Amino acid sequence: MARYNPGMGSGVAEFRRGLLKWFDECARDLPWRRTRDPYAIWVSEAMLQQTRAAVVIGYYERFLEKFPDLATLAQASETEVLAAWSGLGYYRRARALHESARAVMAEYGGKIPHTASELNRLPGVGVYTAAAVASIAFGEPVAAVDGNVERVLTRYLGHEPVPGAARSGQLRQEALRIVDPKRPGDFNQAMMELGATVCLPKGPVCLNCPLHEGCKTRGEHPIAPARKMLSRKAALAVMQRREWPKSEVLLERRPESSSQMPGMWELPQVKEGRQNADALLLTVRHSITNTNYYVTVYGVDVSERNRLIRADGERKWVLLQELHDFPLTGLTRKILKRLKVMPGYNGTGPAVLIGETVRDAEKEFDSAVFGD
Ligand code: ADE
Repeated sequence: MARYNPGMGSGVAEFRRGLLKWFDECARDLPWRRTRDPYAIWVSEAMLQQTRAAVVIGYYERFLEKFPDLATLAQASETEVLAAWSGLGYYRRARALHESARAVMAEYGGKIPHTASELNRLPGVGVYTAAAVASIAFGEPVAAVDGNVERVLTRYLGHEPVPGAARSGQLRQEALRIVDPKRPGDFNQAMMELGATVCLPKGPVCLNCPLHEGCKTRGEHPIAPARKMLSRKAALAVMQRREWPKSEVLLERRPESSSQMPGMWELPQVKEGRQNADALLLTVRHSITNTNYYVTVYGVDVSERNRLIRADGERKWVLLQELHDFPLTGLTRKILKRLKVMPGYNGTGPAVLIGETVRDAEKEFDSAVFGD
């Protein structure tokens, strides 16, 4: 394959041909590649930001089952949308998608705009998503440059690493010059696919790469250093009450003013330091952006309510059968699943029962927690 030589314009046709041939032969069969529905493609692109395709597949299919078209999504409540997104993280994407669906219904008569510049004007639709949807769903020859594409281009061109924004602008210009005007959506997806499956951050498989011949670096190339991860500890309480056949778990709503996951529901925090009566249930590590949380989860008896850390958020007993459709944070979902409190629940009782239930104690507890 002739080398694509930036600045001279030579080899672009070969670059495109090699990449697209590889994509046609080797691309993963992903559900959003089997549709031409712009709404479904938009949903996939919103989910795929910051998240691997393998993780997205299940969420994508369930989301489309629940909200099969833009009008259904626009009519849904935010709670329903967040519940369908629960566990996928970066909930701002879900709120933005929902808000944009409403804007498209109100301002565009339900028809998704066809160009990246119009899409980019919708709430929460960034430059990347706008370009991805416009090229994949509508064939507009624009370049969608995400982290994977940045890495592929930086290595191919042998650019020195430059921090975030400056690099993105420069690479977008470059990508715009090479995007295939006949198959822009496939071209963009091929670049992403190459970054996700061949031109890996660590240990790229250069011998499988269709761009190997023209690549300046053929391997790992310095990139801007990743952000340092912080470590934090937390202790959470799983508090359950049961009055056969009802079984409930206590959850707390994050305040709307939270910078992360506002309005989502989670397990309440408990004071550190295990009490005799507590059951140590498990310890989990959970990463949110640049922080690793090491979380110890205790089963705390209802009578130990005063040990919960008082929070600004509303608290509520939630029936175990309703957890599935509740907008839980990813960490909460992870814990409740590991404890088998969530799936496999068959309506006859919880898999894990913690603490005892004394009716009077509960009433007292309710008023202490809810302040009524
Ligand atoms: N990442 C973002 N969009 C993608 C797509 N359409 N296919 C694979 N990975 C992606």
